[in-house]
Amino acid sequence: MSICIADLFCGIGGVSEAVRHWHAPTNSNGGPAVSHAADSGPNVVTAIDIDQSVTALYAQNHGISPRCCTIESLRNVATNETGPIDIWWMSPPCQPYTARGFRRGSADPRSQALARLIQLLPRELPTLLGLENVPAFRGSQHHHELKSVLTGCGYVIREYLICPTDWGIPMRRKRFYLLASRDPTSISELTPAPVTYALNDFVDETAWNDESLIVDRQFWSRYESAISIVDVDDPNAITSCFTSAYGKSPVRSGSYLRCRARNQIRRFSADEIAALMGFRQGFFSSCDLRQRSRYRLIGNSLPVHVIRELLKSLLPDDCIDPVHCFPAAVVR
Ligand SMILES: C[S@@+](CC[C@H](N)C(=O)[O-])C[C@H]1O[C@@H](n2cnc3c(N)ncnc32)[C@H](O)[C@@H]1O
Repeated sequence: MSICIADLFCGIGGVSEAVRHWHAPTNSNGGPAVSHAADSGPNVVTAIDIDQSVTALYAQNHGISPRCCTIESLRNVATNETGPIDIWWMSPPCQPYTARGFRRGSADPRSQALARLIQLLPRELPTLLGLENVPAFRGSQHHHELKSVLTGCGYVIREYLICPTDWGIPMRRKRFYLLASRDPTSISELTPAPVTYALNDFVDETAWNDESLIVDRQFWSRYESAISIVDVDDPNAITSCFTSAYGKSPVRSGSYLRCRARNQIRRFSADEIAALMGFRQGFFSSCDLRQRSRYRLIGNSLPVHVIRELLKSLLPDDCIDPVHCFPAAVVR
């Protein structure tokens, strides 16, 4: 048995990736910190997503098959198969809260799944809860409703705006995070990392040989002033946020990489973006998803190092394997 996590809106499993290699928590008496935890640390026991295309990749990398269903159709998060759930991790769709999605909030049908979870919360009362969304989620009706239900049920709440650059990762992805705990003393301070990583540490030299990534001169001269270009040998380079539209929409979907010595500009590969996001080396290598789908899935996912630090702040110190606290950043 372990600390059981429900990965809600699981996508490709940023949460599962964040809890790889952790070991068991104990409380000050040496016993398990969470009701039924015993000896193997946090562990995703159920993952749910509407998107069938994530199932095989999730199962290959994390060892469990997500349930493919809508969250609004759930009668419970915990089932007979999962047993009680300790942590709900929720990363609901962000479109209802963004300008691109017209900020329709609770009037947007894509927000109904979160509304359902807010409804189920007082019945199931997970010990801990985490939520990730775009900064514009803050102040939305669902934000207020979630906080009001959590406070009413006796949870303490912490909120953050965090960018991976706070942990030395050369990629912008500022996001809103909410953590909640039923134990008023349990959420510890977050401490930004004392190291920074160079972009070059995440670059795969062999990707320069991939023709599908190379941007031709016509594209380059047409969009040069509108796109973010980072230089492979610039030690201070920081990429813009990679979105699910990378590879489809030429602008505002993520940075391009330039190598002056080769006189070439190319897209980042999905595996390079996955490495910047904190996923293991070759995360996509064993799957048969097309490049466009890989970009979509990684662009929707979570920065694993940030999630790991947030979970670390929710769980007792001795739950963390120090070897894996820091980003497994350098891939090659
Ligand atoms: C922001 S992404 C979350 C990414 C994920 N946590 C990860 O680490 O890759 C939102 C996810 O919610 C899923 N989704 C959207 N609406 C849903 C619904 N009504 N029920 C279940 N899943 C839904 C999408 O397919 C998408 O994978």
